[in-house]
Amino acid sequence: QEDQFKKVISHAKEYGYVFQSSEIYDGLSAVYDYAQNGAQLKKNIREYWWKAMVQMHENIVGIDASIFMHPTTWKASGHVDAFNDPLIDNKDSKKRYRADVLIEDYVGKLDTKIEKEVKKAAKRFGDSFDKEQFIATNPRVLGYKEKGDAILKRMGQSLEKEDLADVKALIEELEIACPLSGSKNWTDVKQFNLMFGTKLGASAESAMDLYLRPETAQGIFVNFLNVQKTGRMKIPFGIAQTGKAFRNEIVARQFIFRMREFEQMEMQFFVKPGTQKEWYEQWKETRLKWHLSLGMGEDNYRFHDHEKLAHYADAASDIEFRFPFGFKELEGIHSRTDFDLKSHEEFSGKKLRYFDHEDNESYIPYVVETSIGLDRMFLAVFSNSLEEEALENNTTRTVLKLPAVLAPTKAAVFPLVKKDGLPEIAREIIEDLKWDFDVLYDEKDAVGKRYRRQDAAGTPFCITVDHDTKEDNTVTIRHRDTMEQKRVPISELKSIIAAEVSV
Ligand code: GAP
Repeated sequence: QEDQFKKVISHAKEYGYVFQSSEIYDGLSAVYDYAQNGAQLKKNIREYWWKAMVQMHENIVGIDASIFMHPTTWKASGHVDAFNDPLIDNKDSKKRYRADVLIEDYVGKLDTKIEKEVKKAAKRFGDSFDKEQFIATNPRVLGYKEKGDAILKRMGQSLEKEDLADVKALIEELEIACPLSGSKNWTDVKQFNLMFGTKLGASAESAMDLYLRPETAQGIFVNFLNVQKTGRMKIPFGIAQTGKAFRNEIVARQFIFRMREFEQMEMQFFVKPGTQKEWYEQWKETRLKWHLSLGMGEDNYRFHDHEKLAHYADAASDIEFRFPFGFKELEGIHSRTDFDLKSHEEFSGKKLRYFDHEDNESYIPYVVETSIGLDRMFLAVFSNSLEEEALENNTTRTVLKLPAVLAPTKAAVFPLVKKDGLPEIAREIIEDLKWDFDVLYDEKDAVGKRYRRQDAAGTPFCITVDHDTKEDNTVTIRHRDTMEQKRVPISELKSIIAAEVSV
């Protein structure tokens, strides 16, 4: 698993997807830059999301709010008081940990044990193996599972009660039971606020303390009534946006999984009080369908319903994805009640109510939110697509099987040789295709090598112009995943590509 993750990171660099930020200065921890292919993949994911959420829903509109917001926003939202991570320092190694992440790592060790047992049993039973049944009936596996659940439950309850001494005690117990850090010498657990502060204004006296937004959602809440009125929106309706968010993450690791500067794609759905449970269930289902539509494998997703709820929620669930380092949160679906709007009413003194003409009453709507990290989605797509494939002739090829709709380049066009008028024809094809698709031209190296380069970069189609093209206006089109090659008329290229890459 670790090896696969290392491959993902080095492939992302080698093929122009993700670079360490400020690399010439040895980088900045948990900050990354998207390179030429990465920026394009990221844009395509964003558009795929926007299309599904905004374009396809008559009752959802999109906005683009600022990163800077009035500082009272973050008092009202609860972030100044409650957006904290519990930290613990290891006195021997001088390493700092997020207490909850550390505890999850211990539980992860139990999950690894379960996976090992499952794999062994699957081999033993062959086709007749039923994973769910095996887990439910095998006492050893059940023991691991129950232990893991009990640890997480105790952690959730202690954090909720702010019983930080018990969180520390739990870490100490776990460290004895299954050593992870190799040390027993811990400080107390302390809360640490994750917001980045900055200043607005020129002179020291007049400067105003601001925060970089830690979530995009608040830009939607403060604009709720503006959008509702100007868009004549009727409840239930949603407001969506994508944009940067910033968190001073302490455990900065796992590449672009946990970053200090990242992008969110969020949608707040405003509903009538009392109907939030139904909408919450519906959005869980709708969002899972969106993920499955990309064809990255049903087994790679699971829901994780929360016991420990954020300060604003009455129900919350994560869609978890199987990353190279195990199942982790990819998206959150939260039933946020009327917490935010109510609190903004209080702090701003402005009414944020909706007048329901049908029922002739006004109320503060409840909110169901879907919130996904764009960078995390990028990592899910990228890591799941990277394959080392064994070929029939005993060689291997590296192929990045990105969903075609998301691939940065849809087709590469090659002249077989750099002469006889073939480059000119290839260029003509590019000129025609580039209005509809991202395409590129490549004439360097033998064709086989050019195919491999595009396989590794994730390009779904390669089109080769050869001497026959001059006779009959046909080219060879090669499919990345099947490696199948077909002779087709140039005039059909657009429809062949569109059939695969359109949503
Ligand atoms: N408005 C709700 C909210 O922000 P969250 O669970 O804190 O909820 C939502 O974040 C999503 O944002 C997560 O599921 C994750 O995909 C992404 N995310 C959060 N922190 C992140 C970080 N430090 N780096 C990358 N993505 C992050």
